[in-house]
Amino acid sequence: MKTHHPIQNLNEFRAAAFGFRLPRILLTALDLDFFTVMGTQTWTVKALAKALQASERGVDILCRNLASAGLLKKRDARYCSGTLGRTMLNAHHPEYRGQYLDLMRRQWEDWSLLTDSVKSGRPVDDQGPEDPEYRRSFTWAMHYRSLDPSKQVAKQLNLQTARSLLDVGGGPGTYAMEFLAKNPRLQAKVWDRPPALEVAKEIAGRKKHGHRLSCHAGDFFKDPVPGTFDIMWLSNVIHIYSPRENKALFKKLRAALTPGGRILIQDTFLLDRKGLYPAETNLFAVTMLLFTETGNTYGAKEVKEWLRSAGLAKPKTIRLRRGTGDWEGILIEGTRPYPSMRNTHKP
Ligand SMILES: C[S@@+](CC[C@H](N)C(=O)[O-])C[C@H]1O[C@@H](n2cnc3c(N)ncnc32)[C@H](O)[C@@H]1O
Repeated sequence: MKTHHPIQNLNEFRAAAFGFRLPRILLTALDLDFFTVMGTQTWTVKALAKALQASERGVDILCRNLASAGLLKKRDARYCSGTLGRTMLNAHHPEYRGQYLDLMRRQWEDWSLLTDSVKSGRPVDDQGPEDPEYRRSFTWAMHYRSLDPSKQVAKQLNLQTARSLLDVGGGPGTYAMEFLAKNPRLQAKVWDRPPALEVAKEIAGRKKHGHRLSCHAGDFFKDPVPGTFDIMWLSNVIHIYSPRENKALFKKLRAALTPGGRILIQDTFLLDRKGLYPAETNLFAVTMLLFTETGNTYGAKEVKEWLRSAGLAKPKTIRLRRGTGDWEGILIEGTRPYPSMRNTHKP
């Protein structure tokens, strides 16, 4: 399960520490709107530098690196974008992943403040994330991030007997929309803060199944659960909060599940006994240190324990097909038990 080559000598340490170089090159390309300017044309360095309003020397070296990373094709002394650059990275293409690329770009500065965050145990920016404009942009970023995995997850999850689903912290509602598309008898509600719901409504308004999606504005810690549901879907939510907060949330959600109803949790989970792997799960915990008050990443086993302690029976892991879904393609499920006959029997 070890996903990185272990660092055991100075050469390996240096190679790992300088691992920031390619990421920085990619983010500089985004800063310059490189792929949008390049579009589908083939360019000399001189013409491209002019179009980018950048130096020929800088663009020459940037192009060589982007080409060796596989993003550009070089023929003679000219460059053009490969498929990714022409589509998802190009603002003129319908598949452009706009705000998700911005989110990646903006993280550079925050990550460079990591030492402060490790010392203080606090996020780097206390105010920014609550700004409504930031929340809308973040929600669009979540939409672009989930477009592909949401389709794969909806295909593999059996929700046939469910009639109601609550997408807790559903943001753009991208998952809820895919569940609706696959399950014609399902109704879904997205529970999130108002700026996120503006985005969810805009997306639902463009879709055939959008009329089966509703939105409920609120804070899932402070406000009551808006109804009872057969399915509670929590995708990328528990990593924002502490174990104590998550356990309290599970307990609250359990009370609003129909008997036999399920909580389904999608996140990045530590999977080994020592709690060290996958390495990506640890890296994501750093993002949570930088951006949240109490967030972290957790072991799959630990999360199942929380479900059990919140009164959810049969906690289990659902493994999606390899290479599909978000993260490592693992979901965790807990079920609200049916009341026992003894409790329901009326004399
Ligand atoms: C990382 S995003 C995940 C969005 C979506 N579930 C997905 O997987 O793409 C987390 C979402 O949870 C929402 N959220 C976090 N804490 C919340 C709270 N206390 N009440 C309501 N929504 C909350 C955020 O506004 C955000 O939209």
